[in-house]
Amino acid sequence: MERLTIQTSPIDGQKPGTSGLRKKTRVFMGRHYLENFVQAIWDGIGGVAGKTLVLGGDGRYFNDRAAQIILRMAAASDAARVIVGQNGLLSTPAASNLIRKRGTDGGIILSASHNPGGIDEDFGIKFNTPNGGPAPADVTERMFAASREITEYAIIETHDIDLARLGETDLAGMVVEVVDPVADYVTLMEQLFDFDRLRALFAGGFRMRFDAMHAITGPYATAILEEALGAPPGTVVNGMPSPDFGGGHPDPNPIWAKDLMDVMMGDDAPDFGAASDGDGDRNMIVGRGAYVTPSDSLAVLAAHAQLAPGYAGGLAGVARSMPTSRALDRVAAARGLDCYETPTGWKFFGNLLDAGKITLCGEESAGTGSDHVREKDGVWAVLLWLSILAGTGRSVAEILAAHWAEFGRNYYSRHDYEAVDSDAANGLMEALRARLPELPGQSFENLVIAAADEFAYDDPVDGSRAEAQGLRIDFDGGARVVMRLSGTGTEGATLRVYLEALELDPAKQHEDPQAALAPVIAAADALAGITARTGRTAPDVRT
Ligand code: G1P
Ligand code: ZN
Repeated sequence: MERLTIQTSPIDGQKPGTSGLRKKTRVFMGRHYLENFVQAIWDGIGGVAGKTLVLGGDGRYFNDRAAQIILRMAAASDAARVIVGQNGLLSTPAASNLIRKRGTDGGIILSASHNPGGIDEDFGIKFNTPNGGPAPADVTERMFAASREITEYAIIETHDIDLARLGETDLAGMVVEVVDPVADYVTLMEQLFDFDRLRALFAGGFRMRFDAMHAITGPYATAILEEALGAPPGTVVNGMPSPDFGGGHPDPNPIWAKDLMDVMMGDDAPDFGAASDGDGDRNMIVGRGAYVTPSDSLAVLAAHAQLAPGYAGGLAGVARSMPTSRALDRVAAARGLDCYETPTGWKFFGNLLDAGKITLCGEESAGTGSDHVREKDGVWAVLLWLSILAGTGRSVAEILAAHWAEFGRNYYSRHDYEAVDSDAANGLMEALRARLPELPGQSFENLVIAAADEFAYDDPVDGSRAEAQGLRIDFDGGARVVMRLSGTGTEGATLRVYLEALELDPAKQHEDPQAALAPVIAAADALAGITARTGRTAPDVRT
């Protein structure tokens, strides 16, 4: 084994976004591309010598090659140990758990989350800090700065390391420890949930369908739902991870998990349906004939969490990302809980969780989680929902109806305009930003604007400030429009328009959301000139 020092030079654009560095797979496969960024990670964390890291990914195309390169680079830079999931696999929440449980110096997760995988699709890499959560901005900025000054990196020249075999091997003085990617995670779930009670639910004939979307949660869901809880074989579908996710788009929403939606809206629908994304941190929840928006899911989980043993003592507080609907706020107000509003991206929950200010948190983008790890967690959300179904004896539709009757319904939808010309998207945002001060009092489509601002966040724990986190327009009566540009897209710009309207009258809480939101949708276009500026007459995706 030889330690090589390779000369290189900076590559443009290695700036981590909302969730790590994401690019087209072929870009990552380009000469020095991955290596440069991994060296930038080492530099950004003050070197890797003597440190222990966790490593794993969602199994997408290039995961296996990237894992080999990272191990050889860690060894060349004198890391002490890397704990790697068997075959280079780990779901994002399982990686977060391992970092915490083993007390490591952090970890590297290989994933582009819900983006498609394959040689012509997306790849990504992100670093999580010792608390198990995504690296905060000061750390990713140091990485970006290092990527712009890089001149060389070190790597061990060797044969591939066998990542199929569990146990420890030596790589140029560094220990490579290959672990079962599922076992520790199952143990954690057993601590939070009453597995006996959930077993009894399935034994009583409760039927469920979990769509793993050919991604990483297949092995986790099979081990927990079918093996530990006794759900019948076939409960988990698309459970074998594949490098291109079966040619699909592993994003658990009604568009991309259409098969599941069709089953759940069909005649012989099971009681409960769920799906998770590429790396296992997102979830979609759907009952028989009843889709649950992620914002509502978060609010329902907050209202009933005490039904699971892990949360029986109550919640310290809750948090949601700013664009997430304010259904959670209504639960928090009714229960006397603190409720925090953070910028988009899970990393902003980390300090609140570490400081014990919140127990549950979530985002409208199908992410919910708690203080058990420092990532959102798809399988965890499913188990908490199952605990609520078992504890209340109600169906999903009944739980939703009761929730809305008690707290009001926040109708909600997100409209995405993808691969928009960057100049057009930036122009739209700039023009609207400039008009914010004059908007209060004006009306659009009969909706009167109560307040308008650009969201900025002052972290209550470390005092850091995040600016320019999206434009918010509040209307009288509880409706709202939020606009922001995506920080995870890999092509052009993605404009996200978040739409919300509050309905307190139970007789009006069962409309189609797009119909209920029609005036808000029209107001958003009138405000921002979406069609005029982007040339788009309809969004690409409505969730
Ligand atoms: C998107 C979601 C955001 C989530 C992130 C990572 O980011 O909107 O809630 O945290 O993916 O999964 P965006 O593309 O909007 O920047
Ligand atoms: Zn994800």
